[in-house]
Amino acid sequence: NQYTAEINSFQPKNAEELESFRIRFLGTKGIIKDLFEEFKTVSSEDKRVFGKVLNEFKQLAEAKYQTLKEGSETEDSGSKSEQDLTLPGEGFELGARHPLSLVRKEIIEIFKKLGFNVAEGPEVEDDWHNFSALNFPEEHPARDMQDTFFIKKGGEKGDIALRTHTSSVQVRMMEAGKPPFRAIMPGRVYRNEAISARAHCFFHQVEGLYIDENVSFADLKQTLFYFVQELFGEGTKVRFRPSYFPFTEPSAEMDISCSICKGDGCQFCKHSGWVEILGCGMVDPNVLENTNIDSKKYTGYAFGMGIERITNLKYQIKDLRLFSENDIRFLKQFQSEM
Ligand code: PHE
Repeated sequence: NQYTAEINSFQPKNAEELESFRIRFLGTKGIIKDLFEEFKTVSSEDKRVFGKVLNEFKQLAEAKYQTLKEGSETEDSGSKSEQDLTLPGEGFELGARHPLSLVRKEIIEIFKKLGFNVAEGPEVEDDWHNFSALNFPEEHPARDMQDTFFIKKGGEKGDIALRTHTSSVQVRMMEAGKPPFRAIMPGRVYRNEAISARAHCFFHQVEGLYIDENVSFADLKQTLFYFVQELFGEGTKVRFRPSYFPFTEPSAEMDISCSICKGDGCQFCKHSGWVEILGCGMVDPNVLENTNIDSKKYTGYAFGMGIERITNLKYQIKDLRLFSENDIRFLKQFQSEM
C-alpha cells in the first residue's frame, strides 16, 4: 500500500525527522496502532490475509526505524574520531633564536674571520682562575660577597664561586698550552646584583685573548676597530678611555659612536653620542708569569664585552629582564633574524 512506499523511501535529515517517523508509524497513536484497531473489526475469513500483511508492514516499519537509528548513532560518534582530511592544516609554530644567541653567533663569526678560536670553561670556578691568577689583590672589592656568588670556602685553589667573568677561561687556556694564543671565550657569568632593567644576577660575555711575540696596543685597536665596523656598520667611530683592570696594563674602555641616534642624543648614549661597549688592555706581565708564560718574550692583549649590552644596542632593548623572562611576544620578534 501507500505506506510501504513511504517507509521504503524515507530518508531522515536529522534526529527530529526520524523521531516523527517513529511517532507517525510506531507510536501509541500511530498508523500501525490504528491498523491493528481496524484489524479487530474485519471478518474472520479476511483476518488471515490482513493479519499477515499487517505483521509484515509492522516489521518493515520497525526494521527501517532500527537501521536508521543505528546509522545516525554511528555517524555521530564517528565524526569525532574520524579525521576530515579536507580540513585545512593547522600549521607548525615556528620558533625563533634567542636574541643573545643571535648576537653571540654574530660576534663569533666576526672574530673567526680574524683567526680567533672559540674556547669554553666551567661556570663554577675556583678563586685562582677567576681572581688570583688574574692579579686581583687579596683585598680587591670584586671578591667581596657583594659581587661574587660564593659556593664553598677554602680549597686547594681557594674559594669556589660562580665565575664573575670569562677571563677565567683565558687563565685555563694559558696554563694548558703554549703561545701563540688567539681565542675568544663566550659564556655566562654571574654577579650578585639586584635585578633591575639595567642589572641582572647573570649575563653573558665574550672575552678575547691574543698572545704572541710583539703584540702591541695598536694590534688591539685595529682588531676592535674592525670588529665594530663589522657588527655596527661601516663608519662607526671608536674611542678609548684609560681605565683599570687588575689583569691588564695599560687598560682602557672602548666607546663606540651611538648606533641608534647617530650622535644626536638618545636614551642609550644618555645624549652623549657615545656608548661604552667593552673593557680591554695589554695582558699584565704578572698574569703571564702566573700562567708560566715568559713575559720577556711574549706580550698580548685582552678584551671583554657583555653580549646583553651589545644586543640592547643592536635591537634597541631597554630592559635586561626581557632576556630571561621567556615572554613569547618578545622572543617572536626575532623570528625573521637568522
Ligand atoms: N673581565 C673584564 C670584566 O668582566 C673585562 C675585560 C676583559 C677587561 C679583558 C679587560 C680585558 O669586566
